[in-house]
Amino acid sequence: MHIIATTSRSGLNNDTGFQEFLAESGFPFVPRNRRSLEILLQENQADGVVIWHNEGPVLFNGQDKFFFHPSMAKNRLSAYRKHGTKDPFINACQLEDGDSLLDCTLGLGADAIVASYFTPRGLVMGLESSPVIALVVKWGMGLYNSQLKWLDEAIKRIKVVNSEHYEFLSGLADNSFDIVYFDPMFRQALLKSQAISPLRSLANPLPLDLRAIEQACRVARKRVVIKERAAGTELQRLGCSTIISGKHRKIAFGIIRVGE
Ligand SMILES: C[S@@+](CC[C@H](N)C(=O)[O-])C[C@H]1O[C@@H](n2cnc3c(N)ncnc32)[C@H](O)[C@@H]1O
Repeated sequence: MHIIATTSRSGLNNDTGFQEFLAESGFPFVPRNRRSLEILLQENQADGVVIWHNEGPVLFNGQDKFFFHPSMAKNRLSAYRKHGTKDPFINACQLEDGDSLLDCTLGLGADAIVASYFTPRGLVMGLESSPVIALVVKWGMGLYNSQLKWLDEAIKRIKVVNSEHYEFLSGLADNSFDIVYFDPMFRQALLKSQAISPLRSLANPLPLDLRAIEQACRVARKRVVIKERAAGTELQRLGCSTIISGKHRKIAFGIIRVGE
């Protein structure tokens, strides 16, 4: 993927954050000079352009804009804070404060944000194999400011790593994290989720590999949790001993208990 970076029409390119982003991403900087994004893409024969905003980077691929936002995490956490509504993902993970959770499929990070809220004294690390998703989400999380302290702090505690999860898991020692979590794209194409549609064209679409689950079972101290379609046999294929329903009946969480 050939990706370039530019500023907004009125933006300056001497922002220190932008300079650090350019250095980390390696994306070539193209001065905006008031040109449209479509023209910039054409002139540079690029697949995407990252536009730097003070609130975080935005990727435009000619059709969709992709940028970090807490999507459903904010609603899920607000429901918990207002009404004590239990989150099915937290329930499946049996996450307690102080626990460490490795999210092997970060995406926009909604599940990671919810996890981070519930373990403020622990650690939430998110792995994302798409370099551009990882960069946009990492920098977007760092610059995000909703003025809601509980949300901003949960977001900023997350450690984002651009890595394919099998490779990353293989390099970890046994029992490195309490919980290892997967939410692969495989299922998502079957759902009409608006929140993740710009992500779809950028994301790694592969189903989970049994070798990754094997590594996850070695790395997890307590449990491995997988989000999947309730219909179908994917969770059985992956060796889940317990399957519990998500909030919507179409979704289920598969659990592999390892050290409980
Ligand atoms: C369905 S999304 C995850 C959504 C996320 N749980 C949330 O709440 O926002 C799946 C993400 O995992 C990434 N992914 C898929 N396979 C991966 C792999 N082998 N290693 C790391 N990331 C992967 C995809 O690129 C995609 O961004």
